[in-house]
Amino acid sequence: MDIHADIDHVILTEEQIAGRIREIGAALKRDYADAPRPVLLVAVLRGAALFVADLARAIDGRVELDFMAVSSYGSTTKSSGVVRILKDLDEDIEGRDVVVVEDILDTGLTLKYLLRNLASRKPRSLEVVTLLSKEGKQEVPIECKYIGFSVPDEFVVGYGLDYAERYRNLPYIGVLKPAVYAD
Ligand code: IMP
Ligand code: MG
Repeated sequence: MDIHADIDHVILTEEQIAGRIREIGAALKRDYADAPRPVLLVAVLRGAALFVADLARAIDGRVELDFMAVSSYGSTTKSSGVVRILKDLDEDIEGRDVVVVEDILDTGLTLKYLLRNLASRKPRSLEVVTLLSKEGKQEVPIECKYIGFSVPDEFVVGYGLDYAERYRNLPYIGVLKPAVYAD
């Protein structure tokens, strides 16, 4: 495998990611098999775009998709805790079974805000699937029913995750070389 020159090391390969997504897709199919309406995957743009595309295809059954965009980090690597809705859902989620699809759970501040906001719209159920969860970083408790991988507290990029909008299209997830931040 060719590794991008800015990547120090890969922590999750394309194959590992695909394998775990197949498992989560099967779990979602099973858990929502008896739901009155198709599960609505709400992906948080932009980081979760690649994940939700693969996750939706890993669910062998009817799913619907919607998207939200929130501002969190800007182009730095620290959570500000300030969350703003940049793009809201197109769907009314009242009475729906909603699964929020996130790329990474870090401090949890973004999800806490989002979940409170979505819960106020009276969905039938509300769960979270996150591809990654940073060990020991959560500042607020978030109930995340489906977690792809726990990762150490390092800044990671690839498979949707960016640093200053770069590296989202890497097929694997890796840690950037420290020199990249110094630029
Ligand atoms: P939180 O509010 O601190 O949980 O931040 C969540 C958001 O910050 C994620 O949805 C990502 O967009 C971004 N983020 C947090 N950690 C990383 C990382 O290691 N790489 C890239 N983006 C990250
Ligand atoms: Mg994000």
